[in-house]
Amino acid sequence: MKRFPCLSLCLLIALSVTLMVAGTAAAAHGPTPSKQVGILLVAFGSSEASARVSFENIDRRVKAAHPDVPIRWAYTSAIIRAKLAKQGQVLDSPEVALARMRDEGFTHVAIQSLHTIAGEEFHDLRRTVGAFQMMGGMQRILLGAPLLATQEDMARAVEAILATLPRERKADEAVVLMGHGTPHPANAFYAALMFQVQRKDPNVFIGCVEGYPDIHEVQALLTERKIRKVYLMPFMSVAGDHAKNDMTGDDEDSWKSVLTRAGFACQAILKGTAEYDVFVDIWVDHLGGALGHF
Ligand code: CO
Repeated sequence: MKRFPCLSLCLLIALSVTLMVAGTAAAAHGPTPSKQVGILLVAFGSSEASARVSFENIDRRVKAAHPDVPIRWAYTSAIIRAKLAKQGQVLDSPEVALARMRDEGFTHVAIQSLHTIAGEEFHDLRRTVGAFQMMGGMQRILLGAPLLATQEDMARAVEAILATLPRERKADEAVVLMGHGTPHPANAFYAALMFQVQRKDPNVFIGCVEGYPDIHEVQALLTERKIRKVYLMPFMSVAGDHAKNDMTGDDEDSWKSVLTRAGFACQAILKGTAEYDVFVDIWVDHLGGALGHF
């Protein structure tokens, strides 16, 4: 019986302390600033001029969906940023871009990852976002998932792949998509996507330049299916360095060289996924989901 007054007293003290803290915070920060919403688009980045068309297309689609919201860009790759800086093109890291937006008075920022899977680059970005959320100074910071995050994304990506296959291709000819790949567990998305796309078109293959399945694995699958002709396409947002060199370059270990030596006729299509609206709209819808919370 004696416990109840004691409990009420404790609650009262807790409540007073909460009110005092809240009062101090309000006094220290003054009135809440007026709502200012911004978008931060974050890509791995590319130093290749051929990549620009992809980024411009994303920028155009995001502007069309959110014409009144300012858009900023950041690249997660420090190597790419350093390379571009030497050419006089300064691009922010996500950290610098967010700090800048905070200084400029943005209160709500929706960050959209333009990565393909939630690998290392995405998780680094998530840590950065978490740090800015803890730091305060902005009311809400939300991060949109990369291209492939949910089963709905996978299904949409399958449809996007099927919609962007070369029109001149015959059904017994193969299409090999080159994903990036990563040591991160999220690498499993590539094989999972190949499984799903092959349920609709058994001659579409997905390999990775830096992950599983590698080109030798893909080559074995092509041989099993008795394929003679292969279209090579990047499964990366840009047709940049990997597409030009590792996919279709003249070096003996490029995918084109490996498959040509093995007897397949190869034809490359140098277009990144972000050059096609069907892919871009997946990222744009993820961004819309984040913005919808503001
Ligand atoms: Co790479």
